[in-house]
Amino acid sequence: MSAQARGYSDIDAPYNQSGNSNWLEKQESRGKRSRWIVIGSVLGLVGLIAIGVALGVTLSKKSSSKTSSSSTSGVVNQTDPNDPSTFEKNPNLHQSFYGIAYTPEGSQYPACGNSLDQVITDIQLLSQLTTRIRLYGADCNQSALVLEAIKQTKVNLTVWLANYNIPTDDTPYTRQKAAIQSAIQTYGTDHIGGVTVGNEYMLNYLNANGATDPNSAVGNQGAALLINDINDTRYMLGNMSLSKTPPVGTAEAGSYFNTLVLQDVDYGMSNVHPWFANVSIDQSAAWTWEFFEEQNVQPAAALSNTPQMYIAETGWPSNSSDAGNESNGPSTASTANLQTFIDTFVCQANANGTEYFYFEYFDEIWKDIQFGGVEGWWGLFYSNRTLKPITIPDCQSP
Ligand SMILES: *[C@@H]1O[C@H](CO)[C@@H](O)[C@H](O)[C@H]1NC(C)=O
Ligand SMILES: *[C@@H]1O[C@H](CO)[C@@H](O)[C@H](O)[C@H]1NC(C)=O
Ligand SMILES: *[C@@H]1O[C@H](CO)[C@@H](O)[C@H](O)[C@H]1NC(C)=O
Ligand SMILES: *[C@@H]1O[C@H](CO)[C@@H](O)[C@H](O)[C@H]1NC(C)=O
Ligand SMILES: *[C@@H]1O[C@H](CO)[C@@H](O)[C@H](O)[C@H]1NC(C)=O
Ligand SMILES: *[C@@H]1O[C@H](CO)[C@@H](O)[C@H](O)[C@H]1NC(C)=O
Ligand SMILES: *[C@@H]1O[C@H](CO)[C@@H](O)[C@H](O)[C@H]1NC(C)=O
Ligand SMILES: *[C@@H]1O[C@H](CO)[C@@H](O)[C@H](O)[C@H]1NC(C)=O
Ligand SMILES: *[C@@H]1O[C@H](CO)[C@@H](O)[C@H](O)[C@H]1NC(C)=O
Ligand SMILES: *[C@@H]1O[C@H](CO)[C@@H](O)[C@H](O)[C@H]1NC(C)=O
Repeated sequence: MSAQARGYSDIDAPYNQSGNSNWLEKQESRGKRSRWIVIGSVLGLVGLIAIGVALGVTLSKKSSSKTSSSSTSGVVNQTDPNDPSTFEKNPNLHQSFYGIAYTPEGSQYPACGNSLDQVITDIQLLSQLTTRIRLYGADCNQSALVLEAIKQTKVNLTVWLANYNIPTDDTPYTRQKAAIQSAIQTYGTDHIGGVTVGNEYMLNYLNANGATDPNSAVGNQGAALLINDINDTRYMLGNMSLSKTPPVGTAEAGSYFNTLVLQDVDYGMSNVHPWFANVSIDQSAAWTWEFFEEQNVQPAAALSNTPQMYIAETGWPSNSSDAGNESNGPSTASTANLQTFIDTFVCQANANGTEYFYFEYFDEIWKDIQFGGVEGWWGLFYSNRTLKPITIPDCQSP
């Protein structure tokens, strides 16, 4: 099967948005119909958003007590305990990843529960693996926490901030826009690579409205809503009279970019997941590159604004919470396969100029609790920030 013929999606939404239940119900009732989507993934996404508020509070209480109870203390040591920039480097870590996808623990609104201390530990570890990270949203003060942690650790890290907006309610967009603006006012733009508006917005809009083609009439209706928010963010940034105005983009499932949206952004970030597309591990690196080239890079290059294209997420799960979900067709979750994916993708993609954000930094427990299967097992690190038993390749990323 060619890459084009393989439509698929994934669940990665790390946010519970405050949510409009009509939209959610529609999405749930129609999710199963989409022939383009890996069914389990859609259910996962629906589950995430639908269960979100109630469960999120409970989960966050658990995880915040966990966070503050020093579960990760000792993971990174500092020669001066009061100076996060004096952290000791782990010789097993190398800056070989172009970028890494990151959500601070406890950033699901409204539960929140994240902490600057934990984010500092994360930034100390992440900065030993990459010079670039991307966020998914701006709730729970995560933009400021990450920028403050970069400041205190003095690391060379550029962050793509994000606004995880939804089609049916302006509130989450407006709230996150204010948080982004405030973080930029405090920290400036020296460490900001861009502001991403939307995470799988088109995929969600199509599911909610019983359509599958991002460039159909229905797709273009969703695109108009997304473009409003993208333009509004660009206007907000332009109106701040910054010395360097960050580019504005969107992140989308690999097969769901709408052309009108692409024509309106400075960059697009694409989720490209061989595991969800049922690709065997041996073919996964090549498939990922081919899919991205054919579906995203080439179409974007043909547009007059030539938006820059990144892989927003690619990776491989190391485990599954139940044996039934350990494999997706020929793709199998295991630590050995995670190692193979890293070994076959990372340095090769660096060498040929592929700009990607590896998915993801650490295992996110709340995803495992809410979805099970492989969802909570995509990290390079376990949830306690211990590196999995893998070897990080030693090639300096561009
Ligand atoms: C940090 O220091 C503690 C105490 O000396 C030690 O047990 C631990 O292994 C160190 N952690 C790392 C990552 O070096
Ligand atoms: C920081 O990282 C960027 C790539 O993101 C690189 O171009 C730059 O040289 C690095 N700066 C330093 C001081 O290492
Ligand atoms: C957000 O985080 C920054 C950096 O730690 C902190 O200065 C600020 O007070 C925080 N804001 C809120 C509302 O928690
Ligand atoms: C969005 O901004 C672009 C570029 O400035 C402009 O051409 C377009 O008309 C705007 N669209 C909307 C819906 O505001
Ligand atoms: C533009 O910025 C000015 C202050 O610099 C502010 O008063 C105004 O409300 C802003 N306009 C919009 C639409 O954000
Ligand atoms: C670029 O890197 C990918 C990922 O490893 C690889 O599959 C692909 O063949 C490479 N492309 C070229 C043109 O070298
Ligand atoms: C893999 O998942 C199973 C089921 O949740 C769990 O019991 C096991 O500890 C996990 N393996 C690792 C290495 O975390
Ligand atoms: C992937 O394989 C599973 C069986 O493990 C199947 O249910 C699913 O439809 C396949 N998905 C795709 C996109 O081929
Ligand atoms: C796990 O497998 C069950 C049974 O096949 C399925 O209903 C469920 O959606 C799967 N969960 C995930 C997260 O893939
Ligand atoms: C972190 O979690 C992993 C996997 O569950 C476990 O093997 C390891 O011992 C834990 N590390 C610490 C320091 O607790």
